[in-house]
Amino acid sequence: MILDDLIEEISPGLYQIGDFATPVFLVDAPSPVLVDAGYSFTSELYAGAVHRILGKRKLSWCLITHTHFDHVGAVGYFKNLFPEMKIGASGLACQIMSKQKSLDHIAGLNLFAESIFFSETHLSSSPFQPFQIDTILSEGDVLNIGNSLNISVIETPGHTRDSLCFYLNEQKTIFTGDCGGIVHDSGYIFYDFLSGCAAYIHSLNKICNSGAEILCPGHYNSFKDAKCEQYLVDLVPGCMKFIDFVSGILSAHNNDINICMNIIKSLEYDVLPQPKQPEPAYLLNLEARLRSVLSFVSTDLSRFLT
Ligand SMILES: [Fe+2]
Repeated sequence: MILDDLIEEISPGLYQIGDFATPVFLVDAPSPVLVDAGYSFTSELYAGAVHRILGKRKLSWCLITHTHFDHVGAVGYFKNLFPEMKIGASGLACQIMSKQKSLDHIAGLNLFAESIFFSETHLSSSPFQPFQIDTILSEGDVLNIGNSLNISVIETPGHTRDSLCFYLNEQKTIFTGDCGGIVHDSGYIFYDFLSGCAAYIHSLNKICNSGAEILCPGHYNSFKDAKCEQYLVDLVPGCMKFIDFVSGILSAHNNDINICMNIIKSLEYDVLPQPKQPEPAYLLNLEARLRSVLSFVSTDLSRFLT
């Protein structure tokens, strides 16, 4: 986990903050916006970076792409720091964050992440702080953040059911969280369709048709200009190719999930260098992805083809 050189200006007024494996984004507009908030244990560090950019100005918004622990870990910390800041997320995210079981789960996973990375960071421990969603965001909502800057909301379920993308109109920038492919630093792309392949592909198409010239995913590197264009061209075919590959392995092993998990893990996870997702989280997600493929092949694919 690399935590020095915390701030990168992607384009004028658009910053990537934090470790490149789990960054957050700051739009320095008249009404400044933070997209996602990272782990709870990096909250102090990331807040310091926000202060360095904004000076005495305060965050107006924290927009949440989805409620996975590594995206919402520090939202409560930022809310305490900036009480006027509005937290925006999907209606489903609002429901999730109102359940004690979800809050306990998010808190536990943040503690787990802290136990893995803490010794490398020399940060003070910062437990997850629960928070409430202030504004429910839906497809087509537009937030004016000052001057001619607007952020449009795009519903993109498939990674999770509560996933949103945010499109910064003037800079043609899309924040995709985990629903537009997760490109490991090695170049390997994780198609992380935890809540369904069909919805995921539909969402990929929305991302590809958004007009984005800058793509800011929730993990690893952002893409600009020609690299962004090429990434978007390859996105759906790449995902379909992966689904086809996985369904071939499943059918060759009588849809035995455990055997297929071992095979795919050895091909896509074991060979990757660090930093990468902790193995227990990867395995949990891999099982969900395989079940999504099984469902897609047996039901949704036939609908796609007619
Ligand atoms: Fe996620």
